[in-house]
Amino acid sequence: MTDRIPLVAANWKMNLTISDSIKFLATFRQKMQVPPANVEVVLAPSFIALYPVVAALSDTEFKVGAQNLYWEPEGGFTGEISGPMLRDAEIEYVIVGHSERRQLFGETDEEVAKKLEASIQYGLKPILCVGETEAEREANETFDVLERQLKTALKKLAAFQAEVLTIAYEPVWAIGTGKTATAAQAQEVHSWIRNKVKERFSPDVSGHMRLLYGGSVKPENAEELMQQEDIDGALVGGASLDPDKFIEIITAAR
Ligand code: PGA
Repeated sequence: MTDRIPLVAANWKMNLTISDSIKFLATFRQKMQVPPANVEVVLAPSFIALYPVVAALSDTEFKVGAQNLYWEPEGGFTGEISGPMLRDAEIEYVIVGHSERRQLFGETDEEVAKKLEASIQYGLKPILCVGETEAEREANETFDVLERQLKTALKKLAAFQAEVLTIAYEPVWAIGTGKTATAAQAQEVHSWIRNKVKERFSPDVSGHMRLLYGGSVKPENAEELMQQEDIDGALVGGASLDPDKFIEIITAAR
């Protein structure tokens, strides 16, 4: 399939205040006014900086994503943010099931599934994160873990709902560690994931679905990773906090 438009997403995690975010955008936009043709670029700032970033990018083709959401639309859920709230703030994307949420905040596969379903129900485009830990890889459990994560997350989705979904493969051992999966390791998993999506939905859905790689993506490795047949972009943490590095990664996606 050649019609998948590459997607490069910045996951700023719990970094950059509102003013830092606006400063970042000023520098970034001086160097990149528009995304390169045929590359989609998403920035996912912290919740508090989301709306200022939407406002700053409103006249541009750059898209904005949230890093999380809660599955209920409203109510007594102190401290949470819902899908309808994100849509009202003109947010288009949302990251669901990031490994930091799973590991540090105890999100289960079932909760990730509810978040995924809610994000689609309320009109957001989810980026579902899956990936194994170092111990799981060493124990040869990579594909068992991915199978479980995908099976639970996708269990209630209809094929038409899966059309808005992007999946990011992020080996936990590669996140923020400087260790990257080799292009061949990443491609092996990506092609396996595409096949699972095909079995679960259809060749059409799997052929159109974008699969991103995440985990220490940097200018030095971005091009080789994104050249792989089943890697359609990147979810970038650390390197997305530096406008120059992030621009190099976006450019590599072309
Ligand atoms: P990293 O983070 O690029 O800093 O490894 C990626 C992520 O957690 O999405």
